[in-house]
Amino acid sequence: MIKKCLFPAAGYGTRFLPATKAMPKEMLPILTKPLIQYGVEEAMEAGMHDMAIITGRGKRAIEDHFDISYELEHQIKGTDKEHYLTEIRELIDNCTFSYTRQIEMKGLGHAILSGETLIGNEPFAVILADDLCDNGDDESVLAQMVKIYNKYQCSIVAIEEIDPSETKKYGIIDGKEIEDGIFMVKNMIEKPDPKDAPTNLAIIGRYILTPDIFNIIKDTKPGKNGEIQITDALMTQAQKGMVLAYKFKGKRFDCGSVDGFVEATNYFYSLSK
Ligand code: UTP
Repeated sequence: MIKKCLFPAAGYGTRFLPATKAMPKEMLPILTKPLIQYGVEEAMEAGMHDMAIITGRGKRAIEDHFDISYELEHQIKGTDKEHYLTEIRELIDNCTFSYTRQIEMKGLGHAILSGETLIGNEPFAVILADDLCDNGDDESVLAQMVKIYNKYQCSIVAIEEIDPSETKKYGIIDGKEIEDGIFMVKNMIEKPDPKDAPTNLAIIGRYILTPDIFNIIKDTKPGKNGEIQITDALMTQAQKGMVLAYKFKGKRFDCGSVDGFVEATNYFYSLSK
């Protein structure tokens, strides 16, 4: 059973400057809810109650968000505004939140390794909150992945088909389809040029990882852009054993980019009407 979900949230969010100068990217709201709250809700729906968040300098607002604000609650108690805090209160009441800082931003692999003390020796999920996923009333993307984990007990990455011209933005996988939408990974390349990309199957911000990944990351040299890449560590894991890639059901918005953020806003706004 997977109990813990890790949220790497230490990045600088430079594509959203100046908004992210003093505010974490993960706190940018889609309508009234910050991106990271959507992520925590998805993890909870997938059966996880321990949230481990990797923060950095300037990210204190995340900790405050998942805490009680006595003054505010006292102020709106008994008024018609009380319901605005119902959803977040439910998360606070049902989950634990632990935090550790990534001291230097050395890449996603390094951020995940920073979470080792919070995770320990058990399989865990990873959500990149700036990839916002929605599957309507059906199972969330992470819940779909948990089912696959329960069957295969190995690391799993979520993938989607992208426009081949976009491969430079993603980790790209190649593999053998062993079940409808489930691929056994044979190759993985971080941000290849379209001409070097073996497929158009891109890794998005949902992972389930087995804890041996931590030692593999420790032995992984900096890769693309001088960062420690989780893609490189997963490739080693795939060579040693098995890693699966899963073409999830649902929609994904790249809220780390302005275009994706606006698209998500319009989508959730139309759903709310
Ligand atoms: P991104 O590269 O999309 O985020 O990393 P970023 O660096 O914050 O954004 P830009 O490119 O400057 O606009 C994907 C995820 O990994 C986390 C980020 O917080 C984001 O959730 N991350 C990335 C870390 O936690 N640490 C890192 O060293 C790098």
